[in-house]
Amino acid sequence: MTPDPQSLGERAAAMIAELGAISAEPGRLVRLFLTPEHRRAADLVANWMREAGLTVSEDALGTVRGRLGEGRRLLIGSHIDTVIDAGKYDGPLGVVAGILAAGALANAGRPLAIDVLAFGDEEGSRFPATFSSSSACAGVFDRATLPLADRDGVTLADALTRYGKKAAGIADAAYRPADVAGYVEIHIEQGPRLEAEGKPLGVVTGIVGQTRLRVIVTGEAGHAGTVPMRLRRDALAGAVEIAQALERIAAEHPEDDMVGTIGRIDAQPGAVNIIPGQVSFTIDLRSLTDRLRLDAVARFQAEARRIAAARKLEVAFDPFHEIATAAMAPKLQDTLAASVAALGHEPMRLASGAGHDAQVMTRLCPSAMLFVRCRGGISHNPAEFCSVADMGLAIAALIDFIERFKP
Ligand code: GLV
Ligand code: MN
Ligand code: MN
Repeated sequence: MTPDPQSLGERAAAMIAELGAISAEPGRLVRLFLTPEHRRAADLVANWMREAGLTVSEDALGTVRGRLGEGRRLLIGSHIDTVIDAGKYDGPLGVVAGILAAGALANAGRPLAIDVLAFGDEEGSRFPATFSSSSACAGVFDRATLPLADRDGVTLADALTRYGKKAAGIADAAYRPADVAGYVEIHIEQGPRLEAEGKPLGVVTGIVGQTRLRVIVTGEAGHAGTVPMRLRRDALAGAVEIAQALERIAAEHPEDDMVGTIGRIDAQPGAVNIIPGQVSFTIDLRSLTDRLRLDAVARFQAEARRIAAARKLEVAFDPFHEIATAAMAPKLQDTLAASVAALGHEPMRLASGAGHDAQVMTRLCPSAMLFVRCRGGISHNPAEFCSVADMGLAIAALIDFIERFKP
């Protein structure tokens, strides 16, 4: 079939705008896993799936599934949760693309076996757990994450119950490998490379591995006016030095795209006139080579211990997320590249520095991703933007990919 990329792109933009209006806060986009906003977004997606002719269900981790046809199937998905103060394309673009592609092919009477998946937890923005929904689909959900709590002390287990889910049903969310032929995900690039090369679409070769941990530095709280500098055990001053060690270590491997980030920091007791007694902060360290990343984590921990000891502080580490680098399936990469070329564009190959559900889905089946050019490389930011033309091309490429795909 010959889809019209312009009208597909326009429809995608309208759907993404509608989803982008579902937020916990006026004025900025915040849509966290298992919240009322997640429910509203899931219901909207379910309606779109029904309109496209898909049969809708929802699993025990909140993934909305739209099914077409019988037999061994292709899974197409992405996520509908967001980071805090998010852009509206990260996640929704892939879900909307799947619905529009499946709908167009169903309309054309193609015999297909497809599930479109809208995962609920890709960002890890609410609980110290990430990829819960795709992990359940891939059969690798870690039940040890169920007691983990959000900032308000609500555990993942309790939040699931409040969302109307039963933990006993988690095992049933897993696909049987024999029933699944592959997974494909369309996603905004979230970086500047396609734009720099003047290319609308890119085929992903692999996704970085990640280590996330919480660092807890303990010193002694004291009076900000009376304790001399040389007698202080200031947890925040120590944390700052430890943070600089992370920046130094991560910068040693630019060839491997290694990056290290401290995204959250909390100083206690948190008063202007008290020396901080305890500081905790998060580390997110990523690279394309697992060995280099694990080595960097070990060196960072050794440095943190050395810095803490020199300042008479204690330091502890609480790891809460670890995922290995994942290669995308070469055959599916080639099929995606052929689909992009068929639209008259040269497919660029690139690795992903962002984590994606596709990374988890490699544990279930051969997986692939198509990146869409992103203005200014800006993402995890409300200024995130994909053009109608680029989104339309991506959906047309996905339709072509589905037609070429051999289960
Ligand atoms: C998800 O977007 C991540 O890479 O953190
Ligand atoms: Mn994403
Ligand atoms: Mn994201």
